[in-house]
Amino acid sequence: MLSNGRHSLSPVYPLIAQQIVDDYQVTCGTCIDIGTGPGHIGIELAKITDLTIYFVDLKPEALSKAKHRVAECGLNNAAHFVEADVCQLPFCEHFADLVVSRGSLWFWHDQVKGLQEIHRILKPGAIAFVGGGLGRYTPASMRKRLKGLGRKMMEKHGGAKFLKGAELGQLLGETGLNGCRLVTDVNDQPATWIEMHKS
Ligand SMILES: C[S@@+](CC[C@H](N)C(=O)[O-])C[C@H]1O[C@@H](n2cnc3c(N)ncnc32)[C@H](O)[C@@H]1O
Repeated sequence: MLSNGRHSLSPVYPLIAQQIVDDYQVTCGTCIDIGTGPGHIGIELAKITDLTIYFVDLKPEALSKAKHRVAECGLNNAAHFVEADVCQLPFCEHFADLVVSRGSLWFWHDQVKGLQEIHRILKPGAIAFVGGGLGRYTPASMRKRLKGLGRKMMEKHGGAKFLKGAELGQLLGETGLNGCRLVTDVNDQPATWIEMHKS
């Protein structure tokens, strides 16, 4: 962690947020960032959209950091901070226009239930983008420098297993959800993201 609260992955969050906006074109309505930690993805989405952002995490200390960082950024978006487990989200069905979750899936105690919960709260036609990695827009040179860093940070946060490729596909299959596909950051590399389209 750098002294200003940022860390070496900081440059990738705006790139992932831009990718999400470019791919799904959701710029207003309700967005939920699950396992937000200090709020990275939600904040970067807020900077380039009019989305109302719900920052969700199991840990109150993560939400305090997210709240502090949101205040520092001077955003105009509505922001809510919700302490909750992805397996029991306090939102009604058809609540969200967009759900994002980066670097959190690997820590969920019941990943199948968590993914089903996310699907439950999506509005018809809404999108979820869940998984991990550096996103498609991260340049190769930065990708090379940061490769493996996410995994090291995960080990630091409790040694969770980073599912990718076939293992991620198997997890998705176990959810029984339709309208989902795996997404890769780099062609020819295993997928590290799950994209859900609710019909
Ligand atoms: C490695 S951090 C990722 C933070 C941020 N999304 C990022 O990309 O930097 C994982 C976060 O997921 C949260 N988390 C773990 N299990 C969770 C669960 N079951 N429900 C909600 N959040 C969870 C942790 O508290 C932690 O803040």
